[in-house]
Amino acid sequence: MMTNRTMLAAVQRVAAIARPFQRPALAVAAASRKMTLASASTISLSNSSSIAKDSATASTTKISPDIQARLDMDKKTMQSVIAESTAKGENAWEQMWQEGATPWDKGTASPALVKLINEDRIPEGRVLVPGCGGGYDLVALASPTRFAVGVDISPTAVAKVRETLSKHQVPGNQAAVIAADFFTFTESDLPAHATTSADGTATPQFDAIFDYTFKCALPPAWRPRWAARMAELVRPGGTLVTLMYPLGDHLDGPPFAVTPDGYRELLCDAFDEIEVSDCESFPARVGREKLGVWKRKA
Ligand SMILES: C[S@@+](CC[C@H](N)C(=O)[O-])C[C@H]1O[C@@H](n2cnc3c(N)ncnc32)[C@H](O)[C@@H]1O
Repeated sequence: MMTNRTMLAAVQRVAAIARPFQRPALAVAAASRKMTLASASTISLSNSSSIAKDSATASTTKISPDIQARLDMDKKTMQSVIAESTAKGENAWEQMWQEGATPWDKGTASPALVKLINEDRIPEGRVLVPGCGGGYDLVALASPTRFAVGVDISPTAVAKVRETLSKHQVPGNQAAVIAADFFTFTESDLPAHATTSADGTATPQFDAIFDYTFKCALPPAWRPRWAARMAELVRPGGTLVTLMYPLGDHLDGPPFAVTPDGYRELLCDAFDEIEVSDCESFPARVGREKLGVWKRKA
């Protein structure tokens, strides 16, 4: 059974992880829901007055001001712990997926991507989605002429993607997902469909890559590495689509802030800019993202 201390830690983890990706009211509601459930099972253990007071109102979704203050205080610490843990090469993302602390997961494909697909602006062939999360973008991308490959570092996320692909009856020759690190996976980790070009030649490069909320999830110090890996993985003449989110200049994260000029600086050596424009967005992200389309130089 959870002690009061571990219960509070769980609430803090979820709230701290959730808040940066969603509106504050939703994050507090998520934390409150957890607190209400946890309080119900720990009421008899409580000696602390603040916890006892909260337990007394366990049937409501209200969170007490002292707990809220502690959650607020810990938000930045927890963000930096996740960032630091990721920077050390640990898989903090798997923990988030295991705990269901995935507020970025919208349960559906990105509106901007769907529009691009409907306008025939995503190349056919092999398309990579790094940090594919729940895999909904793979479902949208998969077609008889396009093989969509997701890469995610979290085995729990990858299991979820497989369920999603199966639920949507996506054939195995149209989409696949691998549990791997974007920076280090090799050709041998990929399914055969992902390494064979239209003319039958074997190639580890992709016709297109779609990046949404992946770059912003990485420590900013890794951005040159991110750009170098993109240049390595997109074939000459191929397309990189970057849905830039969250636009801004805040320093904490994930999600870390991005700017169109930041992308330009990172990509200009290996890619030509095709467009940077406003785009369709999930309602909570309207005005906070832009579409970038880049063509790999020969
Ligand atoms: C903020 S989530 C975004 C998920 C998805 N793109 C979406 O829009 O819902 C970032 C995802 O990247 C994955 N991830 C983080 N670092 C990774 C890495 N080095 N290689 C592959 N996946 C990674 C995480 O497990 C997580 O699913």
